[in-house]
Amino acid sequence: MEYGYFDDRNREYVITNPKTPVKWINYVGTLAFGGLIDHTGGALICAGDPALNRITRYLALLPGSEFKGQTLYLRIREGSRYRVFSPFFVPTLDPYDRYECHVGLGYVRIVSEFYGLRANVTLFVPPGEARLLEDIRITNIAGRPLEVDAVPVVEYTHPDALKQITNADWVPQTMQSKAYPEAGGLLILAQYPFMLRDTRINYLTSNRPVSSFESDRRRFLGDNEYGTWARPLSLQAAELGCYEAQRGDNIAALLHHLGPLAPGETRRLITQLGQAPSVEAARPGIAAYRDEARVDRAFAELAASWERYLSSLQVETPDPAMDRMLNIHNPRQCHTTFQWSRYLSLYQTGYGERGIGFRDSAQDAMGVLAGLPQEAKELLRRLLSVQRAGGSAMHQFNPLTMQASVGDAAERPDLPQYYSDDHLWIVLAVCAYLKETGDLAFLDEPVPYYERGRDGRPLATGSVRHHLEAAVEFTRGDLGAHGLPLLGFADWNDTVNLRAGAESLFTAHLYGRALLELADLLRHLGETVAAGKYLAWYEEMKARVNACAWDGAWYIRYFDADGTPLGSHTDAQGQIYANAQSWAVLSGFATPERARRAMDSLYEWLNTPCGIKLSMPGFNGFDPARGGITTYPPGAKENGGIFLHANPWAIIAEALLGNGDRAYAYYAQINPAARNDQIDTFECEPWVYPQNILGDEHPQFGLARNSWLTGTASWAYQAGTQYILGLQPTYAGLRIDPCLPAAWAGYRARRRFRGATYEIEVANPEHVSRGVARLAVDGRMLQGNVVPAFADRATHHIEVVLGLASG
Ligand code: GLC
Repeated sequence: MEYGYFDDRNREYVITNPKTPVKWINYVGTLAFGGLIDHTGGALICAGDPALNRITRYLALLPGSEFKGQTLYLRIREGSRYRVFSPFFVPTLDPYDRYECHVGLGYVRIVSEFYGLRANVTLFVPPGEARLLEDIRITNIAGRPLEVDAVPVVEYTHPDALKQITNADWVPQTMQSKAYPEAGGLLILAQYPFMLRDTRINYLTSNRPVSSFESDRRRFLGDNEYGTWARPLSLQAAELGCYEAQRGDNIAALLHHLGPLAPGETRRLITQLGQAPSVEAARPGIAAYRDEARVDRAFAELAASWERYLSSLQVETPDPAMDRMLNIHNPRQCHTTFQWSRYLSLYQTGYGERGIGFRDSAQDAMGVLAGLPQEAKELLRRLLSVQRAGGSAMHQFNPLTMQASVGDAAERPDLPQYYSDDHLWIVLAVCAYLKETGDLAFLDEPVPYYERGRDGRPLATGSVRHHLEAAVEFTRGDLGAHGLPLLGFADWNDTVNLRAGAESLFTAHLYGRALLELADLLRHLGETVAAGKYLAWYEEMKARVNACAWDGAWYIRYFDADGTPLGSHTDAQGQIYANAQSWAVLSGFATPERARRAMDSLYEWLNTPCGIKLSMPGFNGFDPARGGITTYPPGAKENGGIFLHANPWAIIAEALLGNGDRAYAYYAQINPAARNDQIDTFECEPWVYPQNILGDEHPQFGLARNSWLTGTASWAYQAGTQYILGLQPTYAGLRIDPCLPAAWAGYRARRRFRGATYEIEVANPEHVSRGVARLAVDGRMLQGNVVPAFADRATHHIEVVLGLASG
């Protein structure tokens, strides 16, 4: 059973059956103002921070049929009664004649037909604005006149989202609404918790006369709330009660009489849900966006901003599903993880302390460098500012307060209170930023470390370069019995939590990769002595890893505090871990024979048709000595599940080893855009990577969850563009080093890089996977495969021929 189709020309996915197995969503706006809209019009909107400034009350845990955050009601007058329904299907669940949810770039458009009315509703946040627009067009297709009313409804939450759930007296005592009537029957309905009345208000308003309104949920639903969202009793009366709530569950419902609509006639209504310091401050913006032409312009600006972002790279390969992901959906998902980290989705619900993840956002930044370099730099600054002076990093932080925490480690005070990998990711992210932009001045910029004095001022500040050096120095000084990095509370795998003294091979590899990056940077800066120092550290760790971590057919993953290896053939569960193999290649620590053997073991033991499992076999029973991994049944999440974030690393490792066929096979098997006909198994949105898919030890093998906010987005994009297609930014220019499936005859790409445009054509006449035999720039042969950074705003033609004759 299919639920919809890809419309590549319009860069949309179109859902045609609203009864998807789970809610499917899209994102609008940015972290500054925006959030998610589900495919039946529910909306979770926040400003700046989902935990402390949430606007709509969207309870993801309710069934799919329930009202969530907002909806639109339409009603048709039938004698003395009204036929009331929602063109979004939820919450009234009326039978529809047509239903389409267009999931676009930064917008959701629902087109539906019920009872002779066509609704066409576009929801989006104009770039840079703190308002969600709902551009509603209602057309009479009944063939007879209809008298139609439109009632948009929003349900507010207290801005402190967790308090809304935990304190059912304080919150309702403080929630208030106030109506501000305006000339011509227009109305602004404002809402705030009492303490924010004079500093920050939410509002709902529109561009048509409001004949009546309601702000109290009880009155709107009626009968002490034995009226329901599916059949609100107040909508059977001619008018709403015009009640300004002094407490309770606040909503905003605005009743508009659209009047009699002749057959074929259309009315347009535009609503705005926004936030501002005061109603007075909001008025000019409100007035501007009541203008239909302004709204049309804003929508065009939104499209233009996505075009600018996506035009940093467009590709044409022999695989349409790969093109669809690399050109549209994967960069959009990268944009989303970049904005919301792991902080706001249907699965990561943004309550309490969660905040922006340090390691997560460092990796997310790497997915948007070409499209959003300035924004990425800003995020890198923020991340660096929660790094400790000793080099390690805080695990996560609240984006409004910049208050940071140690994450889940706080729940286990018996274990180390830091993650051994966090700080190392920032080295990779900053170097990737420098290679993309050439902005080496960033290295000298001072950024404070996290520790503050009693006056709130930073105790220490260092240049960006100093931060990176501190990061590798921390790991170099934090070693266990084998001379490998200590695990801390966890490494990238949050769920293996071993006693203090345990060592992590993942962190060893990440440290190796960070050292290579630093050495490469320093060589580029002409500092060969400093580069040599880091290379010596690198060799030292490489030797240790190879001396103690080779298990015979693969690399082991951890040493427990007592020296017992984990991820060894001697283990009954967790015998082999994917990251221990792929990262041995990414770090360059694996010798060529071991690298090949390790990646073949990964293929043999961990690969499935739905993706690569993180480890196997799964632990079967809770064991506090192993930690979070044992809280899952075998096959779920980190415990033998297909944890997708780790899949691109296997793709990259295979590409680094020159195995283009397997790299591509790994890429294709997890491509969600190729899963559109398997939704009843997969269940999640086919246009984004989910974080996890149940593995083959689980009875529901193939079921995806935790879509959208996953490091898979950034790494799948890097794997596809930099390693399979081989378009790699370097300090000296754009290196072109594809590793293709041998069957491919080539591909084309258009890449913006440091102010110039590169039209790239790769031919593969001999059907090899790898090796540039010939490279010409604007018709002139080039030595090697690094195309210089022209920075001349011009377009350059790059012809690449792959072949065995490569140097
Ligand atoms: C989640 C976390 C990420 C972690 C991964 C593996 O995706 O957000 O930080 O690396 O799980 O445990």
